[in-house]
Amino acid sequence: MEFTIIREIGADVSTDLLVLFATQADKADTKASRTEAFTAVDATLDGELERMIDARSYTGGAGERIVFPTLGKRKAKYVAVIGIGKRSTRDLDVVRKTGGMIALIAREVRARRVVVECVEEPKHAVSNWAARSTEALVEGVLLGSHRFHAYKGTMHKKEKEPPAITTVSLLAPDGRAVRSMDESVRTAQTLCEATNLARDLVNTPSEDMTPSRLADVARSLSIRGSHISCRVLNEAQMERMGMHATVAVGRGSMHRPVAVHLSYLPPKRKKRIAVVGKAVTFDSGGLSIKPADAMTTMKIDMAGAASVIGLFRALATVKPDVEVHGIFLAVENMPSGSAYRPGDVVKAMDGTTIEVLNTDAEGRLTLADAICYAAKQKPDTIVDLATLTGACVGALGEDIAGLFTSNDALASKLLDAADEAGDPLWRLPLYEPYAQLVKSKIADLKNITGTRYGGAITAALFLKSFSGSIPWAHIDIAGPSYVERETRPDQPYGASGYGVRMLVKYLEKL
Ligand code: BES
Ligand code: ZN
Ligand code: ZN
Repeated sequence: MEFTIIREIGADVSTDLLVLFATQADKADTKASRTEAFTAVDATLDGELERMIDARSYTGGAGERIVFPTLGKRKAKYVAVIGIGKRSTRDLDVVRKTGGMIALIAREVRARRVVVECVEEPKHAVSNWAARSTEALVEGVLLGSHRFHAYKGTMHKKEKEPPAITTVSLLAPDGRAVRSMDESVRTAQTLCEATNLARDLVNTPSEDMTPSRLADVARSLSIRGSHISCRVLNEAQMERMGMHATVAVGRGSMHRPVAVHLSYLPPKRKKRIAVVGKAVTFDSGGLSIKPADAMTTMKIDMAGAASVIGLFRALATVKPDVEVHGIFLAVENMPSGSAYRPGDVVKAMDGTTIEVLNTDAEGRLTLADAICYAAKQKPDTIVDLATLTGACVGALGEDIAGLFTSNDALASKLLDAADEAGDPLWRLPLYEPYAQLVKSKIADLKNITGTRYGGAITAALFLKSFSGSIPWAHIDIAGPSYVERETRPDQPYGASGYGVRMLVKYLEKL
């Protein structure tokens, strides 16, 4: 998909789809203002646009849309009018969703060429609006048009998939904005390519996305000029390093565990950050086996690692002045004669002993080792992303990830980055008294609490000690890593690639 910045939209522009925006009036009953492009196009259609809008009591509210064919009257085959809400409430997320809607409409009318007018600035001035709204809009289009078709077969070929968009022409508000808009397009392309890579890895069935395959993908990122290198440890080496908890989780599977350490070492580096991802390539629950319904989506249990891989893909292009370590310990959690059992006591890399009372609470066991390993790199900060608990989904729903950290400065940086990236994130408490609930009578810790309540918090508290004194944040992405019920047009069915864009924004700001 190619994006070009244009200086004007001719009244009779030739394209498959022309996208115009309608602003909602700030006060009810007043008529919404119309943009220049809207008025110009409407004039060539004899006021048809305006009549159509009137007839449908269309207010221009965010997401309201009218799409119609011009039936040969104009060179634009279809015109879409998309509501972008009031100027007083407009923000970048509205623009990102609008981009997603453009992708949806383009599919519906099978458009290859799309022309889009600019999104008027909100009432409250936003610095670099033209550039930032361009980035959000392009993100919406790229994220909204991504589909995972690697496993579609002969039936699908007969169904005639809509063609992909080839070119999107974006109107610049003025000549000065063109350069920064061009740059925004490139940024959005980098971020979305990385996000879509993470999505593809998560969408791939566990049969094909095994621990060693995940390591292969990580290895493939270390290309010349990227400043990225990749170290992979096999099971024996993991044992030697003391990653016994992780190896125990992987013991029931025919696929052997691997440890992956990606490093990005730019010439100039001010800070050192470690990013850890949960990498359970399939979570059956192990001997504490999951009910069938809870198991159907468990190929997504490596989404944290997929986001780490997506991040590194983006780092190769963005090249921030930060040293970054990406770490994941990939295992498959399966029941079998060799599987670890409830009642077993396993030892993490720092010597902490853990009583396993439920083999389905495996994520925290692998993360214990991964966070220990990350701490050994002596980073300034550790951030982990993990599809860790159903309880977090219960607390925040399916779109929002949970943030846990006792470091307020780190929390605010991550929340800002998430907001900018459009990755919904909400802070939850690391309530210290609950830490008692994961203390074991026979070992140091136990991996479940014995209560149904507060599971996202107790899981986070379980992880806390492994980071030692290094500032650490845990992000529970069990909800948003996979979209089963679509709530926004930039997040189609399937893996979301949650976290990739947030992590890039976070690192860029350091
Ligand atoms: N991988 C799951 C968590 C999960 C649930 C991810 C839903 C994505 C969607 C995790 O390993 C798990 O099974 N957690 C248990 C913990 C419990 C046994 C303490 C859970 O949440 O039920
Ligand atoms: Zn589990
Ligand atoms: Zn799991």
